Amino acid sequence: MPCVLWVARNSSAYLSDLVHPMAKLEASSTRLFASAWRPIANMIRVFMLLMTVGAVLGTYIIQGNTAPTLTRVNTGPKPCQTIPQWEGRASEWNHITESNNRYIISFDGVGLRKRVLKEAKSFMPGERQYNYIMEFKTNTLYTINLNLNTCTVTNLTQPWQNHTIPTDATLEDEYELGAPGSGFRVREWSDRLPARRAESWIGIFTIAGCWPIVEIFTDDDPQNPVSFTTRFFDLTPGIANMSVFDPPEICKSQTVHPEPEFEPEPEFEPELEFDPPITNQNFNVTIDDDKDSGPVNSYFKKGWNYLKSWF
Ligand SMILES: *[C@@H]1O[C@H](CO)[C@@H](O)[C@H](O)[C@H]1NC(C)=O
Ligand SMILES: *[C@@H]1O[C@H](CO)[C@@H](O)[C@H](O)[C@H]1NC(C)=O
Ligand SMILES: *[C@@H]1O[C@H](CO)[C@@H](O)[C@H](O)[C@H]1NC(C)=O
Ligand SMILES: *[C@@H]1O[C@H](CO)[C@@H](O)[C@H](O)[C@H]1NC(C)=O
Repeated sequence: MPCVLWVARNSSAYLSDLVHPMAKLEASSTRLFASAWRPIANMIRVFMLLMTVGAVLGTYIIQGNTAPTLTRVNTGPKPCQTIPQWEGRASEWNHITESNNRYIISFDGVGLRKRVLKEAKSFMPGERQYNYIMEFKTNTLYTINLNLNTCTVTNLTQPWQNHTIPTDATLEDEYELGAPGSGFRVREWSDRLPARRAESWIGIFTIAGCWPIVEIFTDDDPQNPVSFTTRFFDLTPGIANMSVFDPPEICKSQTVHPEPEFEPEPEFEPELEFDPPITNQNFNVTIDDDKDSGPVNSYFKKGWNYLKSWF
């Protein structure tokens, strides 16, 4: 008997506060074995064990099934909002047409206007430089050929989209970009719906200021494949010169027309270049009056909730 008591004290001293709460229960139960109340002690022991196991299991079930779901919905960073007016440059890869374009962008989320100046590539002789002014309040697209000083006025076919993270976006990751120690932190968002929809859009935005870094949009719809990667750089807040949204004089005489109009020379046979191929039934093309200019403007009819192409 003294031996049992000694063991009980010993195990209690070692285990009670250090390792596990169950040890305390074991230790005190061992002590009770030494007394005359052995049957009652056993009943108490079993009862306490059941209570403990029940409590632990209950905690597990609540935490495992309810708490994390609520946590995921109710806490964590919300999509930030990019400043409504900004300017900058962008490089857009269209992986379907395997073409890369660089743009100078002025984005007016207040007046619902966009101005996109397509940078000419100096190594492509004959390539024209285009300025696109998009007025979403009047549903008008001005396509200005800066080399020929001509203007084509057509209707926009895409709805207005704020350039920011959609409020229903899913947070994918948060990390530092750039050199170790002197980088900056970004968050990566997507349109993925957990267990319901794979992502077709990924947007990487800075945590400080909510500035776009990279956007990727893809849709493998066989009728209408889309795949864009756009990088943003040299961004500045505000619009330095609001006049960039004013259509030039050459556009004033034009009226908005649904079909592109042009006055070809008598012998002029317009060369249509489709980008992507004409077989794409959701695709629409506007052409210009210069046969060397290539595609002037093109966009998809299909509307998405997420930003992808710049025009
Ligand atoms: C987004 O654009 C709509 C117009 O389509 C506007 O009413 C809304 O305020 C804009 N939201 C933000 C955050 O700029
Ligand atoms: C503002 O933009 C307009 C149109 O592009 C241009 O004619 C004008 O020179 C610009 N003003 C300044 C101060 O840069
Ligand atoms: C072009 O836009 C004008 C004005 O917004 C509208 O009246 C006209 O129906 C549009 N045309 C087409 C073909 O959508
Ligand atoms: C292209 O757009 C014009 C007007 O904008 C419309 O009449 C025509 O049906 C469109 N074509 C296709 C293939 O969507």
